[in-house]
Amino acid sequence: MDASALFKFSSGLYVVSADDGERTAACLVNTGLQVTSSPLQVSVTVNKENFTCGAIERAGHFSLAVVDESADMLFVGRFGFRTSADYDKYDGIASAVAATGDPYPAEHACSFVACNVVQTLDVGTHVTFVGEVVDAGNLSDVPPMTYAYYHGTLKGKTPPKASSYVGGIR
Ligand SMILES: Cc1cc2nc3c(=O)[nH]c(=O)nc-3n(C[C@H](O)[C@H](O)[C@H](O)COP(=O)(O)O)c2cc1C
Repeated sequence: MDASALFKFSSGLYVVSADDGERTAACLVNTGLQVTSSPLQVSVTVNKENFTCGAIERAGHFSLAVVDESADMLFVGRFGFRTSADYDKYDGIASAVAATGDPYPAEHACSFVACNVVQTLDVGTHVTFVGEVVDAGNLSDVPPMTYAYYHGTLKGKTPPKASSYVGGIR
């Protein structure tokens, strides 16, 4: 089996954030998807070891911002390579708060949705959260960043906790 076949799956990059009333957690994911349009539902799949996973479970809601091509590796590193367990990822950057109470980045993101969790699915290493969208908006006209752009132009890597990690190939 050649697992690099999965590199050809298309996806974008997203910042998923949750404020559980005590604190905020956020991380970079490539697993944001629209699930249905009526009702409007999206899903996001988060590693159980990521601090953000527990924060979404406790909060029962989350925001999902679409990262755009203006994002640099500093922005990626903040959300994708550090943990909210000991670091406030929103400290020092422009942000806004969705109707659910969850923050989202106000720069380097071209749109956002915010959701109430309606279903969770345990998929082993990760949890898939399905959320009903209760808030949404456009933030810029900059194109969304695809995972292919992240790898090809930013020369970014895939860490082990990403759903798309396939064991040191890339
Ligand atoms: C390009 C990229 C894609 C990622 N995709 C996912 C993903 O789909 N799901 C996930 O749980 N973590 C993913 N991660 C890893 C998390 O962003 C990372 O583990 C983060 O530090 C977790 O932060 P937290 O502990 O504050 O939740 C990805 C990271 C990068 C750089």
